[in-house]
Amino acid sequence: MTDSPAPAGSPARTGRTAIVSGAARGIGAATARRLAADGHAVAVLDLDAAHCAETVAAIEADGGRALAVGADVADASAVDAAVATVVERLGAPTILVNNAGILRDNLIFKMTEGDWDAVLGVHLRGAFLMTRAVQKHQVEAGWGRIVNLSSTSALGNRGQANYSAAKAGMQGFTKTLAIELGRFGVTANAIAPGFIATDMLRETAERMHLTFEEFLEGAAKEIPVGRVGQPEDVAAAASFFCSEAASFVSGQVLYVAGGPKA
Ligand SMILES: NC(=O)c1ccc[n+]([C@@H]2O[C@H](COP(=O)([O-])OP(=O)(O)OC[C@H]3O[C@@H](n4cnc5c(N)ncnc54)[C@H](O)[C@@H]3O)[C@@H](O)[C@H]2O)c1
Repeated sequence: MTDSPAPAGSPARTGRTAIVSGAARGIGAATARRLAADGHAVAVLDLDAAHCAETVAAIEADGGRALAVGADVADASAVDAAVATVVERLGAPTILVNNAGILRDNLIFKMTEGDWDAVLGVHLRGAFLMTRAVQKHQVEAGWGRIVNLSSTSALGNRGQANYSAAKAGMQGFTKTLAIELGRFGVTANAIAPGFIATDMLRETAERMHLTFEEFLEGAAKEIPVGRVGQPEDVAAAASFFCSEAASFVSGQVLYVAGGPKA
């Protein structure tokens, strides 16, 4: 954790303890690295602690402090145990990024109850359980930052009735947290990424019988800035929402999509 004074001319930096879920890879890994570079101790949480080793090693190689934590965010007792471990090993968490996610795409007539429950379970129930466990530390500290991962799919996307419902739900969840927790110095904001090049979409490309490169090239043509997003594009937005300077920004949904959405 960094307690050293911020360099002249830069905003005040205070090392906090952060938890990033789904941080073994992709957007979560980039966000964990970015928050660590911002001076926070970061709990790198994913289904299996062993899978977090790469992210933890990258943070440590950059001079940061990180801890691998294994937990299924949809499992209440696992979440409570994970947060207790973070409190013990890194200190009370006051930054939470609810990033863990899965896809179970299917057209509605083929979508199973399992597809529906799994997606709603990880994204919505997971964010609920993690937030419930962390908010008490934020309230106690009188300071907190919650960032929830929504998606442009919240606006509707063919084959994603479950995911779209979950990601739209994340926006309502975020706004309600902002209203309930604001008086305790806690902000809550959502990031709604567009097309970000991660393994999650590698699996989508395979299902569409496209190589990942073909898939990226096709997507880039539809994006105003002419490229697909990278995990670091999302991490930069999360870094802002988690900063001291963002204390008057709450209940917002930021589309990070290389062009206008919503
Ligand atoms: N990649 C995109 O284009 C994109 C766009 C919009 C939103 N998002 C959202 O951003 C987030 C991260 O996406 P990504 O592309 O990095 O995905 P990813 O599949 O690369 O990474 C997701 C991580 O979440 C973990 N995870 C899954 N279920 C979990 C559970 N129950 N408990 C704990 N961890 C779990 C996975 O193990 C994995 O490490 C997700 O919420 C996703 O919906 C991604």
